[in-house]
Amino acid sequence: MNERSENPVQGFYRFHAPIYDLTRWAFLHRRKAAVRTMQLQPHHNVLEIGCGTGLNFALMAKHLDPTRGGELVGLDFSEAMLQRARHRVSKRDWPHVTCIQADASTMQLDRRFDRIFFSYSITMIPDWRATLDRTREHLAPAGRVILLDFGRFERWPLLGTCCRAWLRINHVDVTQPFVDALRERFPNVSVNRWLGGYAFIAIASE
Ligand SMILES: C[S@@+](CC[C@H](N)C(=O)[O-])C[C@H]1O[C@@H](n2cnc3c(N)ncnc32)[C@H](O)[C@@H]1O
Repeated sequence: MNERSENPVQGFYRFHAPIYDLTRWAFLHRRKAAVRTMQLQPHHNVLEIGCGTGLNFALMAKHLDPTRGGELVGLDFSEAMLQRARHRVSKRDWPHVTCIQADASTMQLDRRFDRIFFSYSITMIPDWRATLDRTREHLAPAGRVILLDFGRFERWPLLGTCCRAWLRINHVDVTQPFVDALRERFPNVSVNRWLGGYAFIAIASE
């Protein structure tokens, strides 16, 4: 892919990939709590959609046992971010972690996963409804989908307006009805909101 065929988010991450790991610790929170809700088992197959540089890989990989079929696939459409994710994997003893480049809204991986995880990615995907449709198609029976992302800052009156505007400039749209859309697709959905709407974790299953 060359610069001309990039979409705006891919262009954004070509510039942000080098500083991503240095900066995001400051505002992307609740990773451990979200991974805990996955209730990972050694044999699970996990897909992280919009895995970025792989900041969540260590939290998940340690629960998965490749000798029992456990596997983690990181998917992202930004080659710049994936290069860093692949580098992270190459430095660790993780035979069960792989990265693939694909657009989540059109992905066709011809397999299913026990857990599908989104960490600060669903709010950046313009065609997020199609992505949830693809997610459902890729979920194994008795599987679970976990969304971790920014909330709407409901209890942050003026500051919330500033946060939403700042996020919008950075290609993040928190105003979409993500949880309602999950409820349209999955019978069981639970939601934990954190810090007055700063972030939420939604868990969906059949
Ligand atoms: C804020 S980063 C989150 C990265 C990582 N999950 C984390 O928690 O640090 C959002 C990621 O979603 C990816 N992304 C956005 N839209 C996508 C799409 N349509 N398909 C695949 N990845 C996408 C971006 O390239 C970026 O790496």
